[in-house]
Amino acid sequence: MKLAFIIDPIAKLDPAHDSSVALMEAAGRKGYEVFITDMNTLSVRDGKAWALLQPIKIHPMPLIDGKWQIPNPWYETDKGNFQPLENMQFVWMRPDPPVTTEYLYATYILDYVDGRKTKVLNSPQGIRAANEKMYALQFTGAIPKTIVTADKGTIRDFVAAEGKAVMKPLGGKGGEGILFLEVGDRNLNSLIEISTNIGKTPVMVQEYLPDAQKGDKRIILLDGEPIGAVNRVPQSGEFRGNMAAGGSAVQVNITDREREICTQLAPVLKRDGLMFVGIDVIGGYLTEVNVTSPTGVREIDRLDGVSLGDQVMDWLSNLD
Ligand SMILES: Nc1ncnc2c1ncn2[C@@H]1O[C@H](COP(=O)(O)OP(=O)(O)O)[C@@H](O)[C@H]1O
Ligand SMILES: [Mg+2]
Repeated sequence: MKLAFIIDPIAKLDPAHDSSVALMEAAGRKGYEVFITDMNTLSVRDGKAWALLQPIKIHPMPLIDGKWQIPNPWYETDKGNFQPLENMQFVWMRPDPPVTTEYLYATYILDYVDGRKTKVLNSPQGIRAANEKMYALQFTGAIPKTIVTADKGTIRDFVAAEGKAVMKPLGGKGGEGILFLEVGDRNLNSLIEISTNIGKTPVMVQEYLPDAQKGDKRIILLDGEPIGAVNRVPQSGEFRGNMAAGGSAVQVNITDREREICTQLAPVLKRDGLMFVGIDVIGGYLTEVNVTSPTGVREIDRLDGVSLGDQVMDWLSNLD
């Protein structure tokens, strides 16, 4: 079996943290041939999607005393060559967000992968359909009070009604640009103007969930099923739990309420070809559906003594 991973430059990945590395390592462990490519090598020729595919070997990274042992070097690549992506059984689209124009174009190129020969994960159409912030809004029973608008007055009214709120850019990730809003803050107008690009760019404004201090839970779903979770607890003096914002990864279980949320999501995720996603849940409320390059696998494996990568590869082998 051959798998290609479209990723950011390999040297920039963190083998102890990035889920893409965990997936590639698990694929190698299963004896699959693994290739990597950068999304800027994607091309369409003769009606087919091609890419510069470099073979890669990930050296084993055992977990000892709760720490990943990273060999140096931790991977080996070869030069590789241009090939049609249909030579692969699976193609993983996993560059980090934000979803830029280049990222969108890459998904259009992936539309030219022959679905009868090769499965693209997540589906390029699904990734385009699912803005990571907006997608959650359709699950009305699961989300906190939320508006999306570029209008200052509307945002001010919402903050006045809620007292406290969180404002989020629609294309952000890793806590970037996430702002805490409060009635009476002298910077309120200015924060709204900066975030909305003076009334031009819609943003998400959500009721502030005090439970965020206890953590922002990442749940990984495979084919609609929750397969693992990790809590991300903000560091002191910070309200954002993202690991990229210094949040610490803490072992956690999945509650009944969260399983219910996953059950609501499952048919919609399946319909949209979103087979490997990471949802964010704060105090039992769904706040985000990460479909591009969800993180958390390394932390869940480390804290729960499991291997989600192996589970994913077993699932793939049954699809093939
Ligand atoms: N409604 C909310 N109330 C309180 N804190 C929130 C809320 N929404 C998000 N946060 C905090 O902000 C962080 C980032 O929010 P999120 O919506 O997941 O965006 P992203 O992870 O893409 O930057 C979360 O980890 C959480 O700590
Ligand atoms: Mg998040």
